[in-house]
Amino acid sequence: MNAAVVLVLFSVLVATQAKPDPDVCDVIKVESWNYKYAEKDVEDATWVLNMTVVDQQSAAKCNLGESFGYQKATLWVDDGCRADFKVCYLASSTECSVIRAESWSYKYSEKKVTGAALFISMAVEDRQSEAGCSLDKSFGFYNQNSTVWVDHGCRADFNVCYVRGSTSSTTVNVSSWNYKYATKALPSASCIYSMQVAKQQSAAACTFGKTFGFVANTMWVSDGCRADFSVSYYSA
Ligand SMILES: *[C@@H]1O[C@H](CO)[C@@H](O)[C@H](O)[C@H]1NC(C)=O
Ligand SMILES: *[C@@H]1O[C@H](CO)[C@@H](O)[C@H](O)[C@H]1NC(C)=O
Ligand SMILES: *[C@@H]1O[C@H](CO)[C@@H](O)[C@H](O)[C@H]1NC(C)=O
Repeated sequence: MNAAVVLVLFSVLVATQAKPDPDVCDVIKVESWNYKYAEKDVEDATWVLNMTVVDQQSAAKCNLGESFGYQKATLWVDDGCRADFKVCYLASSTECSVIRAESWSYKYSEKKVTGAALFISMAVEDRQSEAGCSLDKSFGFYNQNSTVWVDHGCRADFNVCYVRGSTSSTTVNVSSWNYKYATKALPSASCIYSMQVAKQQSAAACTFGKTFGFVANTMWVSDGCRADFSVSYYSA
């Protein structure tokens, strides 16, 4: 995954020195007034795991995925749904450490960051090289394998912040038969962060965000998309 994309995804997180926390649940009110879309960030959450209605105040229906839902650490409502929701989430368990990475002779080099599941940020703390260090050009990170990299002569101490945990990848087939919406959950995952078509079985198109996608640890397909998907996920 591109470092910039991940930085945007995790820009809501505030990096703190903290030990991993267990799952937490809270009751949180989120309201769509005048049938408008509204969002609310869950403080201290890294990932929302699930969201269920405990007390609905609106006449308008609250249906998961249609008029309410969640994305990472943000809850949303729409179409007039107003309710108190029970929300379970992984508390922030981010950690920052200073890591030296060096590109000698302008060569590419990598370093594994043990225990890092998802990188949040990487910034130059102290540059030792003449050569500049520029994110995504001469340094960056891969969430797939908990690795930071440097290139083009960049040598520095970096302040690296990440969520502790482990990441894994697997291949799963998910099928939309008769053009129907279908889901499949990955029980071992806390959250999926990437899903790509590995081998398409359907004539119908598989387009990310349109005919397939994921929410938390559950993949979905629709409109006839059937495929084996490569899925990467995070487990706390
Ligand atoms: C929500 O997630 C929490 C934490 O993983 C779990 O204990 C609970 O059973 C889940 N509830 C539902 C309705 O899935
Ligand atoms: C980590 O993943 C990246 C991107 O897929 C790859 O280029 C790199 O060689 C991998 N490094 C290790 C040590 O596995
Ligand atoms: C999907 O995967 C399951 C379990 O691995 C397998 O039994 C099934 O045949 C697969 N279906 C297709 C269409 O590949």
